[in-house]
Amino acid sequence: MSTAVDLIGVTGATGAVGSRLATRLAEQDVQQRLVVRDPARAPDLRGASVAHASGYGDGEGMRAALTGCSTVFLIPAAEAPDRVDQHTTAVDAAVAAGAARIVYLSFVGASADNTFTLGRDHWHTEQHIRSAGVAWTFLRMNLYMDFIPSMVGPDGVIRGPAGDGRLAAVLRDDVAAAGAAVLTSDGHDGKTYELTGPDAFSLAEAAALMSRASGRAISYYDETDEEAFASRAKFGAPEFEVRGWVSSYWAIRAGELSRVSRDVRALTGRDPMSLEAYLRAEPGALHDVPVG
Ligand SMILES: NC(=O)c1ccc[n+]([C@@H]2O[C@H](COP(=O)([O-])OP(=O)(O)OC[C@H]3O[C@@H](n4cnc5c(N)ncnc54)[C@H](OP(=O)(O)O)[C@@H]3O)[C@@H](O)[C@H]2O)c1
Repeated sequence: MSTAVDLIGVTGATGAVGSRLATRLAEQDVQQRLVVRDPARAPDLRGASVAHASGYGDGEGMRAALTGCSTVFLIPAAEAPDRVDQHTTAVDAAVAAGAARIVYLSFVGASADNTFTLGRDHWHTEQHIRSAGVAWTFLRMNLYMDFIPSMVGPDGVIRGPAGDGRLAAVLRDDVAAAGAAVLTSDGHDGKTYELTGPDAFSLAEAAALMSRASGRAISYYDETDEEAFASRAKFGAPEFEVRGWVSSYWAIRAGELSRVSRDVRALTGRDPMSLEAYLRAEPGALHDVPVG
């Protein structure tokens, strides 16, 4: 069984979740190694060393960077057509480096035929980790609550084909807190946790909450699938990425993101933040939302 005194390899520490998680570990005097692509952007934290690898696909670099780490916290890579290959390379590198435990940040409902197409990457990564011969824990996150204000378009409208489906969005800070709890306590091997907020809401309800919090007119428009692809064409993103964006709304519509889990509370000892509380605590989150 893995113990709470490992040297922990933390990936993604230049990002939102990884930096918050690493900060929490440092506050608990945990020894960690931050494995980053750009050491100049790594957070400067007590008890943390920094190692460079050019990316998850850099197997030799990852193996060298993770040598000595008995636990690895793997943040999923940015969306890419070869994301699963990058992840499997990173997992194999961690195992080759001697890691005994991998904690992977996955996605709720991860399955081979996820409605949310990018969720399939998480399923394939989970499967690879299961077969890697190490202890594992999967933290399946919902959509990020902190992204919801950025869904509002310049005209004050959230557009997407989500119908009146609900999502149990979770704050990235709560994801980090749950991750830190798993890394610093025992009993999580072979467990899959769902990281969600305290309740599930529709995008119309989210728009109403943001209207009240900002004093601006914010609404939700339920796009048809054709409208959803057409309205995102202007970004010039690759097809797999646009499909990923649109299918995240389909997953909401299908109810696949609506389940509320108590796992954040069970892991951290406190309730995750609700959207209403988040908007109250971070009024700046709505600064970029236009006057509607
Ligand atoms: N649940 C959701 O709603 C949601 C939304 C968007 C993304 N995600 C996923 O959740 C992950 C973590 O979220 P976040 O908010 O912390 O993202 P973030 O702020 O973009 O940070 C991502 C971190 O992962 C690193 N990274 C990305 N691709 C990598 C690769 N191929 N090899 C090595 N390192 C790589 C980045 O390094 P650099 O700083 O060098 O780029 C950064 O440190 C994202 O990477 C994405 O897979 C989830």
